[in-house]
Amino acid sequence: MSDVPSIQLNDGNSIPQLGFGVFQIPPEDTVEATKLALEIGYRHIDTAEMYGNEREVGEAVRASGLDRGDVFVTSKLNNSYHEPDEARAAFERTLSDLGFDHVDLFLIHWPLPTLYDGDFVSTWRTLEAFKADGRARSIGVSNFQVDHLERLAAETDVVPAVNQIELHPYLLNEEVRSYGEEHGIATEAWSPLKQGEVLDDAAIAEIAERVGRTPAQVVLRWHLQRGSIVFPKSTTPERMRENFELFDFELEPGDVERIDDLDRGEAGRNGPHPDQFAYAG
Ligand SMILES: NC(=O)c1ccc[n+]([C@@H]2O[C@H](COP(=O)([O-])OP(=O)(O)OC[C@H]3O[C@@H](n4cnc5c(N)ncnc54)[C@H](OP(=O)(O)O)[C@@H]3O)[C@@H](O)[C@H]2O)c1
Repeated sequence: MSDVPSIQLNDGNSIPQLGFGVFQIPPEDTVEATKLALEIGYRHIDTAEMYGNEREVGEAVRASGLDRGDVFVTSKLNNSYHEPDEARAAFERTLSDLGFDHVDLFLIHWPLPTLYDGDFVSTWRTLEAFKADGRARSIGVSNFQVDHLERLAAETDVVPAVNQIELHPYLLNEEVRSYGEEHGIATEAWSPLKQGEVLDDAAIAEIAERVGRTPAQVVLRWHLQRGSIVFPKSTTPERMRENFELFDFELEPGDVERIDDLDRGEAGRNGPHPDQFAYAG
């Protein structure tokens, strides 16, 4: 039913390159939105304890009638729970809220290098145990900078399968992305549309007009051709369908490069910088 390619992860598992993100979807709307996403053909859902809708994601997967094994579900460890005992309890709550015996991918949501005495290493070792006992098929990180990844490489045994980072045409985040490429860590691009902001860009609009696609389709296609994994969020049914129709056209290399050139570096960042973000409330 779906033409979505899979990306092979460094642990041998694979992940659909296109998914559906549920950040900022209120719990009361999440079952309906996720069920519709699954009807459209999405087979990868990106949630987090922080989003407050894991319970509803699990309910939607069950209500879809699909086999659990046909839907790739990611969740993330919230910032308050980095200490290993807390992380173990939080992971159990995530599984219980989802109503699953495993997640396909579990991430440390933020590195928080200024909290917990800078110790995200023992948190990562805790995730290694979730992978070893099979309750997380794959494990990864989110918002990790190169020095954080280097520290994991020096002090632990398992290389993260993915690093989920802010990445869109105004923030290429190239140093982190290319480190991932060199070390077998797949890049997941969060806020792939910069929450809609890049869709008004004149260069993107011009390319969209010329190839007969929408600006969102052009931006998502650009991500896919650069090898990133994406999971745009929308609660608008026609946009959810539009964001799934990416596999019957291709951008020319010149158009990919033109979008690359829109990078604004740090000025293009939407969310907090991972080195400074210190919210664990
Ligand atoms: N790890 C992290 O720290 C982190 C941080 C942020 C996000 N994420 C993940 O990344 C996912 C996506 O990021 P995001 O939700 O921040 O932003 P996004 O996907 O870049 O953009 C979502 C916004 O764009 C609009 N939109 C979506 N498709 C559109 C289309 N075809 N045309 C016009 N507008 C469109 C949506 O509006 P409507 O809903 O009104 O249609 C919504 O306002 C999240 O859901 C979450 O899973 C992770």
